[in-house]
Amino acid sequence: METNLSVSGLAVRLSGKTIVSDVTFAARPGKVCTIVGPNGSGKSTLLKAITGETGHDGEVHLNARPLERYAPQELAEVRAVLPQHTQLSFPLTVKEVVRLGLQTAPLQVFQAQERIAAALERVDMSGFEGRAYQSLSGGEQQRVQLARVLCQVWQPKVGDQPRWLILDEPISSLDIRHQVLIMDVARDFADRGGGVLCVLHDLNLTAMYSDQVLVMKNGRLLADGKVAEVYQDELISEAFDFPLRIGALPGGAMPFLLPQAGRD
Ligand SMILES: Nc1ncnc2c1ncn2[C@@H]1O[C@H](COP(=O)(O)OP(=O)(O)OP(=O)(O)O)[C@@H](O)[C@H]1O
Ligand SMILES: [Mg+2]
Repeated sequence: METNLSVSGLAVRLSGKTIVSDVTFAARPGKVCTIVGPNGSGKSTLLKAITGETGHDGEVHLNARPLERYAPQELAEVRAVLPQHTQLSFPLTVKEVVRLGLQTAPLQVFQAQERIAAALERVDMSGFEGRAYQSLSGGEQQRVQLARVLCQVWQPKVGDQPRWLILDEPISSLDIRHQVLIMDVARDFADRGGGVLCVLHDLNLTAMYSDQVLVMKNGRLLADGKVAEVYQDELISEAFDFPLRIGALPGGAMPFLLPQAGRD
């Protein structure tokens, strides 16, 4: 059975405006699939359509089943979502925020405590359990939100069914060590059989961690392929309307990217 996250002919209109159109791709379990593209190119809107938050035309299948055939509880068991912006309208401690991820995965109290502690440890936030979430720094809040999402889909597979982590800019507020730590968590989730679909702005970390890169521009997919296929000077420069040069680290195949503007 196909266990992809597949999207076909997806389009989203908001306030009478086409925001996303004609998007077709498949992300695979065991892989990290990253969406890149300029601000306003429709990345978050595409993710919201895939998670069922925004209405859309076209088809989304999760593990061969159409999105609209999932009950909300079933959907919560098969995929967890980290939105680009998370607002908490009431005061909660760090532990309570992470516990929100367990609402759809009822556990014994001691198991829940263990899971919360393990998730906080994974994101390097052990010891913050009792802190008021609102008192955390931006990067700390982002890591706590990731712990919440990890709690929801702790095992990357249930039987032969992969689960999916859908992450909208999970490392946008993080320092370099924590960026790598969190991308390692995503990589590990995929290595253990889950699927990862994420949006990133850091094109070098995208190159380091992605099996598949989708490039969006003006609501459409400009490219879909492996890093080496997509990281071409012309294509990436066109995507961002900005001169960019792809280099390669000596002795390795890892591409890296430098902006050319402002340089002689
Ligand atoms: N409800 C809405 N009504 C009208 N336009 C909207 C609405 N929501 C989003 N947009 C517009 O759709 C476009 C795509 O927004 P989206 O948030 O998907 O971009 P993005 O690629 O995630 O950008 P960023 O990198 O800044 O997060 C933007 O121009 C945005 O202003
Ligand atoms: Mg966005």
